[in-house]
Amino acid sequence: MLTTNDIRRGFLDYFGAAGHRIVPSAPLVPQNDPTLMFVNAGMVPFKNVFTGLETRPYGTAVSAQKCVRAGGKHNDLDNVGYTARHHTFFEMLGNFSFGQYFKAEAIEHAWTLLTKVWGLDPARLTVTVYHTDDEAFDLWRKIAGLPDDRIIRIATNDNFWSMGDTGPCGPCSEIFFDHGPHIPGGPPGSPDEDGDRFVEIWNLVFMQYEQVDAGTRLDLPRPSIDTGMGLERIAAVLQGVHDN
Ligand code: SER
Repeated sequence: MLTTNDIRRGFLDYFGAAGHRIVPSAPLVPQNDPTLMFVNAGMVPFKNVFTGLETRPYGTAVSAQKCVRAGGKHNDLDNVGYTARHHTFFEMLGNFSFGQYFKAEAIEHAWTLLTKVWGLDPARLTVTVYHTDDEAFDLWRKIAGLPDDRIIRIATNDNFWSMGDTGPCGPCSEIFFDHGPHIPGGPPGSPDEDGDRFVEIWNLVFMQYEQVDAGTRLDLPRPSIDTGMGLERIAAVLQGVHDN
């Protein structure tokens, strides 16, 4: 059985072999961001790289970032203890492209790692796309061969990710694992989507905009990729249990 350490290493090595710089987790307290009390996503340490304020000696990166979601825009506190999948502290596995690749490559990498490297059964995977994102819909059909009824269009903010009231943002595509009919819950977009049957394991954000203030959204200098997979969620899946 893969241990959590094996899974973290496997993720970093997969993207490292695909040319991504392996970047250590940043501290939980943001070093450069007065808008947040704690790092709440893998992209936070790269926020200024997405917006073009900062450059790094690499164009793609991969990390396993320590995160806290216990307040603010991304607050999981009220779910802890009620679901099988929420934590206040967790690790987010993520690959990042700063203008190097976009939707097709992000989807291709995610599908390859999940189904070819880790051997997940494609029949247990369902994805969502932002309702207007025909391009992502078509890519999932082409790259993963998913049938149309397992590429679900979602019109809410669940499929438009932003780090906070300001900062980089964009439409996103989420990958769900079906833990099976013995667990209560329904597919994304259904009335019982909050159950633990269909668990979001990976979020691919197609970073395109910067929210500067409530009324101003600018284009990012280059379309970029920010993904995040909960280490504890994928560990449950790969270890054959449904509860983190
Ligand atoms: N930033 C996105 C999220 O937190 C993807 O990592 O879901």
